[in-house]
Amino acid sequence: MTWHDDQARRDELYRDPYPLYDRARRAEGLMYVPEFDAWLVARDRDVREVLLRAEDFSSANALLPDIPLSQAALGVLPRGFGPRPTVVSSDGAAHRRHRAPLNRGLSAGRVAALVPYARTCASELVDGFAADGSAELVAAYARQLPGMVVGRLIGLDPADVPAAVHGGYRAEELLFRPLPPEGQLAAAEDVVALQHLLDGYVRDRRAHPRDDMCSAMVAALAPGDDELTLEQRHELVTSLQNLLIAGFLTTSALIGTMLLHLLADRRQWRMLRADPSLAPAAVEEAVRHDTAIQAFRRITTRPVTLAGTKLPAGAAVLVAYGSGNRDEERYERPGEFDITRPGNRQHLAFGYGTHGCPGSQLAREQLRLTLDLFVRRVPELRLDADRPPPRMRPTLIHRSPQDLYVTW
Ligand code: HEM
Repeated sequence: MTWHDDQARRDELYRDPYPLYDRARRAEGLMYVPEFDAWLVARDRDVREVLLRAEDFSSANALLPDIPLSQAALGVLPRGFGPRPTVVSSDGAAHRRHRAPLNRGLSAGRVAALVPYARTCASELVDGFAADGSAELVAAYARQLPGMVVGRLIGLDPADVPAAVHGGYRAEELLFRPLPPEGQLAAAEDVVALQHLLDGYVRDRRAHPRDDMCSAMVAALAPGDDELTLEQRHELVTSLQNLLIAGFLTTSALIGTMLLHLLADRRQWRMLRADPSLAPAAVEEAVRHDTAIQAFRRITTRPVTLAGTKLPAGAAVLVAYGSGNRDEERYERPGEFDITRPGNRQHLAFGYGTHGCPGSQLAREQLRLTLDLFVRRVPELRLDADRPPPRMRPTLIHRSPQDLYVTW
């Protein structure tokens, strides 16, 4: 089989991993999946068990890239910052050190204080297309709002947000999409540019702290007020880049997927329109049914047994939140998107245990305000019947439609 055939097969699997998940949940023990180079953890209870046994299942490999980097890209990246372990890829005390400023900066109060800004941004984005009668919502809305919001959280100047968002998408492409060598080179250059932008903020906030997440991370990860060492800058830039990407690519992806499912089964959209108080339940169902982060990795720290399968130390497992969320032992008709489903808040879409998502409240607020806004401003929203049905991007990391053409 050629590299292209192999890639095409992998893309199809990534566009629709659900049939594989179904087989893995029914299999005895764990299923080894060569395409993932890992044991697939597919059942709700097994996903929870791995995430709770953090000493046995390390996060060191949580975000292993899907794509090996070319020599050309490897030549460019040392001009930037990192890589260093971040909150997602550390365990134990190191993890708690990274996690502390995130918990404080994303507390309920902090998130509530960000919501009015998010609402204003969202409303202005809709003003930009509401009179047009049609739009492509991934570009016009889904990929815009979360970058503005996480930019505000971190403390970026709004003028720097487009460059930061661009850099974030390029980092994702570099690590998770097959690019030709010159494409990898260009993406690596963009990632390095993002890192220098973030380094400017890190050094500025050391000198002039403000009430923002960048200042809080500088204070927590490099206590004191001496000039930052190069090593501290490497760590801070890597951590900020991680927060930026964790904060907007996920939420952008899920806004697109949520709107897609509401419009694809238009009865659901009509129900929501008739009763906007269903918005929180619609959000939970969107997050459960087809979540943005389908899976992260773990690596065993010692020989362990999981679901009856014996794994040696150093075994890679792929922990599929997206599969646990379709587990028929926990949900009736798990493959159906149903915004009236009771008790769907126990899903795994935001992870579980010590690494569970600290930004879930901020994500939920943006998803809810999007529904409130769209139901009021474009109640006649529908998928554009003159376009082919939307296709999902071939990725497990930020699952979303490639585009979403709508009319009203
Ligand atoms: C719909 C949007 C989102 C989804 C589906 C999502 C999903 C997740 C998941 C599944 C994890 C667990 C990772 C693991 O088990 O290793 C996680 C962790 C994380 N998320 Fe989110 N997330 C979203 C939005 C956000 C937002 C808005 C932020 C911040 C502004 C954020 C910041 C983080 C961070 C920093 C971690 C790492 C936590 C740790 O390792 O302790 N996420 N997220």
